[in-house]
Amino acid sequence: MLLFLDSANLTEIRTALAWGVLAGVTTNPTLVAREGRRDFENFVRELSALVPGPVNAEVTAGDADGMVRQGRELAALGANVVVKLPCTWEGLAACRRLAEAGVPTNVTLVFSVNQGLLAARAGAAYVSPFVGRLDDAGHDGLQLVRDLVRLYNQHGIATKVLAASLRHPRHVTEAALAGAHIGTMPFDTLRQLVRHPLTDAGLERFMADWRQLNS
Ligand code: G3P
Repeated sequence: MLLFLDSANLTEIRTALAWGVLAGVTTNPTLVAREGRRDFENFVRELSALVPGPVNAEVTAGDADGMVRQGRELAALGANVVVKLPCTWEGLAACRRLAEAGVPTNVTLVFSVNQGLLAARAGAAYVSPFVGRLDDAGHDGLQLVRDLVRLYNQHGIATKVLAASLRHPRHVTEAALAGAHIGTMPFDTLRQLVRHPLTDAGLERFMADWRQLNS
């Protein structure tokens, strides 16, 4: 499973890139608004230049024509831009049209197997099941990731499962073990992945022994 950062914060993205584990970035209108970036196009251009892998930017139009227009504009900002579209009939129609124009798409806000099937059949390059939000609603978000991986394998579908709304390290572990192609997570979740008390204790002991030897 590749690791993506779900963030519109350039400092976080630069830090994660420097850690050497980051394969791409996802954003959404909420994350961009949180950073107060009104110059969305410049922001996407900046991100596209900074990140060597896919950079996901979401459309905000409500109808397919508007989504296709925005999607083409976003795709023109960088060769690695992936256009995020909501899982609605309008979004799926736009997905098909953008896919036929060679623009990679990510169908987002996916909460069921049927939505994942529709996204794949509309030509989505990626599909984003929202794990944490399903959990919030009393469902099992990780089960949807398992089901989508199985569905796509079973039917030879090339669409990649991008597990999103991963809120804690256990979500990341389970999504990876389920076979998700990509997991996207906030910076704090990524930061937690390296932590283990035995690593800290072991390192402390190595350093203490080394200091003693050199004292
Ligand atoms: O990539 C989707 C993500 O931004 C949603 O996360 O935690 O708001 O459900 P969350």
